[in-house]
Amino acid sequence: MSLRAVVIGCGHYLPDRVVENAEFEKTLDTNDEWIRSRSGIERRHFAAEGETTSSMATAAAEAALQDAGLGPDDVDAIILATSTADFTFPSAATMVQDRLGMTKGFAFDVQAVCAGFVFALSNANAMIVSGQAKRVLVIGAETFSRIMDWTDRSTCVLFGDGAGAVLLEAQEGTGTSEDRGILAVDLNSDGRYRDLLYVDGGVSTGTTGQLRMEGNQVFRHAVGKLAATATTAMERAGVTPDQIDWVVPHQANIRIIQGTAKKLDLPMERVVVTVQDHGNTSAASIPLALSVGRDRGQIKQGDLLVTEAIGGGLAWGAVVLRW
Ligand code: UT7
Repeated sequence: MSLRAVVIGCGHYLPDRVVENAEFEKTLDTNDEWIRSRSGIERRHFAAEGETTSSMATAAAEAALQDAGLGPDDVDAIILATSTADFTFPSAATMVQDRLGMTKGFAFDVQAVCAGFVFALSNANAMIVSGQAKRVLVIGAETFSRIMDWTDRSTCVLFGDGAGAVLLEAQEGTGTSEDRGILAVDLNSDGRYRDLLYVDGGVSTGTTGQLRMEGNQVFRHAVGKLAATATTAMERAGVTPDQIDWVVPHQANIRIIQGTAKKLDLPMERVVVTVQDHGNTSAASIPLALSVGRDRGQIKQGDLLVTEAIGGGLAWGAVVLRW
């Protein structure tokens, strides 16, 4: 017997405002055709004034709790993956804790940029299998629209806002890959590549800063590193690519998603794709894709999933789980 961290609920939140590619043509030397063909993105959601990472995260968490039929005091911990917390501190997770009305347990943020949700899942899994927590809300939420340079066409057309959440619960498993829950994790980072994708502000500058990215260089790292981490996680879980029902990738670029699937020898029919509607929502993209994929009827209980993500750091990783 061994403890497994099993998904018992999920949910998401997207701001009302939808911005189509064509809107950028009014202010930038760009066009729908370029954005669509280079990234696969067609539209994205942007937060309204007053909407923040913690407010969107709370909405996604409430949806996940409702999905599980549980309330905030049934949860021991909140782990929120974000690089766009409302304030330098306190953590956005403690603000979510307050907004939910959760008066016990603990909450903290995890910051691994676009790989943040994978890192947060790994944290939650470690806490659950070690008996430190029984139920953990794992959220990914971002407001990247607030760190865009709206004059930089190579970045501002790519990102969007939103939030997704899963509720994990400790359940007894048999210790085999037939168990529901998280089966294996692989995490990596390499700080030598920090200049490829970063925000040029923070405590050291006294400004919030704006996102800077060498997109084509990040691209060069992405497919190889994502396929390698997914393969490592599958090997650790004792499963092979042909057993995978769904790849749920970080949604940065359709060409990266397709290239990684090809390298893993998995057909696109078994990949959950939301990049066309959400753009790159950084740490929110995987939980958004999990929740949307479930709502579409793609992801069903018992399905074997691999999630993978790469982003600023560089930081990258993968999780294999049975839904
Ligand atoms: O989520 C975290 C990780 N981030 C990523 O995974 C992003 C990875 N990178 C990418 O997705 C792609 O590299 C981009 C979508 C950012 C760019 O695609 P690319 O095929 O790598 O294009 P590029 O950067 O090599 O640029 C090609 C051309 C350049 O013009 P020249 O120098 O060839 O004349 C750019 O100036 O496209 C130009 N360009 C644009 N043109 C129209 C850049 N942005 C735009 C734009 N509209 N918005």
